[in-house]
Amino acid sequence: MFFNQTKRLKVKDIMSKDFIVFDSDISLRRCVEHIALNNLKEVIVRHHEKLTGYIKFDDIIKISLSQSFPEKKLFDIRANKPFYLNVEDTVLMAKDIMRENQVDRVFILDDEKLVGVLRTQDIVYKLYPKIQANEDLYELLWDNVHEGICIIDNKGTVCIWGRGSEKLYGIKKSEIIGKKLEEFFPTALLLDVLKSKEPVENIIHSPRKNTYVNISALPLIKNGKLIGVVSTERDVSEITNLSRELEFTKEKLDYLQVEVRKMNEDKFSFGNIVGKSKIMTHTIDRAYQVASTTSSVLISGESGTGKEVFARAIHQSSGREGAFVAINCSAIPESLFESEMFGYESGAFTGALSKGKIGKIEIANGGTLFLDEIGDMPLHMQAKLLRVLQERQLMRVGGDKSISLDVRVISATHRNLEDMVKAGTFREDLYYRLNVVNIKLPSLSDRIEDVPLFVKLFIEEFCRENHMKVPDISPEILNMLMNYSWPGNIRELKNMVEHLVVFSKNNEIQIDTLPEYINNKDDKTINIKNEKSLTDLIRKTEIKAIHDAMKECGNNKQQAAKLLDIPRSTLYYKIKFYDLNQYL
Ligand SMILES: Nc1ncnc2c1ncn2[C@@H]1O[C@H](COP(=O)(O)OP(=O)(O)O)[C@@H](O)[C@H]1O
Ligand SMILES: [Mg+2]
Repeated sequence: MFFNQTKRLKVKDIMSKDFIVFDSDISLRRCVEHIALNNLKEVIVRHHEKLTGYIKFDDIIKISLSQSFPEKKLFDIRANKPFYLNVEDTVLMAKDIMRENQVDRVFILDDEKLVGVLRTQDIVYKLYPKIQANEDLYELLWDNVHEGICIIDNKGTVCIWGRGSEKLYGIKKSEIIGKKLEEFFPTALLLDVLKSKEPVENIIHSPRKNTYVNISALPLIKNGKLIGVVSTERDVSEITNLSRELEFTKEKLDYLQVEVRKMNEDKFSFGNIVGKSKIMTHTIDRAYQVASTTSSVLISGESGTGKEVFARAIHQSSGREGAFVAINCSAIPESLFESEMFGYESGAFTGALSKGKIGKIEIANGGTLFLDEIGDMPLHMQAKLLRVLQERQLMRVGGDKSISLDVRVISATHRNLEDMVKAGTFREDLYYRLNVVNIKLPSLSDRIEDVPLFVKLFIEEFCRENHMKVPDISPEILNMLMNYSWPGNIRELKNMVEHLVVFSKNNEIQIDTLPEYINNKDDKTINIKNEKSLTDLIRKTEIKAIHDAMKECGNNKQQAAKLLDIPRSTLYYKIKFYDLNQYL
């Protein structure tokens, strides 16, 4: 047996077979001769075929020294009462019988037949080596388990210190065994268990700074008495430190998320979308209404008309907890599209970062995914996107788990998707899925009455950011700006305002800093190419005339009406009609 359990050791395993049985009528002389010759320890006496007792070698020798010795027979000597055990009985039982009866040997029977003797010496010479071998085995065991093992006795003295513990704490067995554990670890959990006698399991404990162990400690109870405590422990410092760092990072992230949300609330709310024109107020109303639903929204409009501004405002007022994540479909190389959108698992493909990467769609989970310039999405990606949107499930590239999605999709394009569908460059099914609600943003030239508002806003914004004093702008310049067609829409206007402010002099925006194409334009010439219809042209002309007149007359409506040669009520009506609310 590889592992001897001494408790289960049987008498037959260590008994001696060098015994002799003599009939009781044998002469003592012959008996002594025999014993001496065969180096025997005792003689077993048989009387009428029955074992009646035994006589120890020492006793026989003593008697052989007396005078009457030559005539004596074996039955003349008082024999000791033998104790019998069966071959299958344990050594432990033999030991108990010997102790209880104060004898130094027991006789072993097999099926009523004497087969051996178990003497104290057998126990000493045969059992103890086995115990020693077991001890060596135990040592091998606690030196080779990955965990650190420590056993203390009921006085708190270290009895066992495994190699795992040596490694964990850098303390050698020779330094600690036999010493009080408290001297090394004043706060050791084992000492608590020694007091409480209660087991503790899987506790994260820090016996030293920056060292964390997962420890279990059990009281060792024998016959109802505490004899010591055993502990096993595993180093979890790295994991614990990492998870602590993760917790910190998460806390920081939560904090930043709240901050970003607050910032966005201010910056990207509908309240901050500039526009008093009828068409704009109508568009803002529509967007506001759809914001709180989960419907997909497609925002169309020329470049620079505020598509992203609207998308953010919709997300902001949707109350969705998650993030607003924008993907510019025209800016991602086709080969990176999939990994950028879906993310990938570590080792998903050559060249992939070994740690894997989370995709934009997954980041937007719980929030809003903004697919900007959706018209530029490659066809094969359109198919993959459609599948994800339909199934509401996402699988990372190279992954095998699907992640369930709750994403609100807002897309934007300056292209005509319907034409693209007809031409076969945009999937029709995806088009319908994205275009549940359509918001069309007007070009700036379609709401020229908003130009002064934007100019004012951008001047103030730019000056605030650059710690400048807000310069004045003459009605003349404002007029020119309103007359221009702004093909780059609000973005172009914003850049232009920045340019004008930068080159302002004496706290005033200078007319000669206007570029030729704006400055040169004669107020009265109309560039028909820029106009959409006669109604549009009339609208613009009327708005411009009202602005001019109001400026000229210092915002006095009565004088302005006179100047324009129209009744005052007509002027009121037109101001209201064109949403020139700043004059009301
Ligand atoms: N209604 C608005 N109010 C204030 N700023 C706006 C508005 N619309 C657009 N802008 C500004 O104009 C620029 C272009 O807007 P953006 O949303 O990026 O346009 P698009 O996505 O349609 O090209 C941005 O600097 C944005 O802040
Ligand atoms: Mg954009």
